[in-house]
Amino acid sequence: MFKILVRDNYDEVSKEAFKIMKKVLNTGSPVLGLATGSSPVGLYKEMIRDHQENGTSYQDILTFNLDEYVGLPRDHRESYWTFMHVNLFDHIDIPEENIHVPLGNGDIKKNCKAYEKELKKHTVDIQVLGIGSDGHIAFNEPGCPFDSETHEMELTEQTRTDNARFFDGDINQVPKSAVTMGLASIMRAKKIILIATGENKAQAVKDMIEGPKSVDCPASILQDHPDVTVLLDKPAASKLTLFK
Ligand code: GLP
Repeated sequence: MFKILVRDNYDEVSKEAFKIMKKVLNTGSPVLGLATGSSPVGLYKEMIRDHQENGTSYQDILTFNLDEYVGLPRDHRESYWTFMHVNLFDHIDIPEENIHVPLGNGDIKKNCKAYEKELKKHTVDIQVLGIGSDGHIAFNEPGCPFDSETHEMELTEQTRTDNARFFDGDINQVPKSAVTMGLASIMRAKKIILIATGENKAQAVKDMIEGPKSVDCPASILQDHPDVTVLLDKPAASKLTLFK
């Protein structure tokens, strides 16, 4: 079930996302499912501002990130572990041991199993998502089964091209695969907010909301989730029949 909110620009979208996040933060010690990419950065800035201005504490909060590149050292400047520390964790009072980011090194199969096992001990109260221009969520690319749990996924050419901007514009530097929560793992979250801005996301957003439920658009699995808020700017919403 989608609730769709369209706002004028990225800042407004981020503020709207933060309002939803703040309600969940106010419930006590929630478990947060967090995403990387440019889409949630504005939300994370709001969370940092709120922590600094209002003293909102993350001492008792657990976080689980969606995914991590395979083969990058944890401290690589483009690892998702680094991304989360730079964009959020280093600016709030979350204890390091409360942070969970999948491991993209060593025995990958073993890491995936261990991550899913840990995740299953908890219920994610709010899961933040972006969407890839090919309809992926986390790194679950088209064709990924709906019943997938944490696994290694080969990245599509389109995703590697999209993400080359973080690797000096060079697709050859973009890792070929990633460890990612599966679609079934994501669907267990109580509440989901999905942020998408820019025209580049318009087709994926349309396929997710109005297309058939199909592994061709992994995000379309969210049609079956009871509580998904989709936060869009106008260009990202531009292909929705609803807004024509
Ligand atoms: C990345 C991440 C996703 C993210 C998506 C969109 O590859 N693995 O979790 O949602 O692609 O990224 P962005 O928000 O930068 O457009």
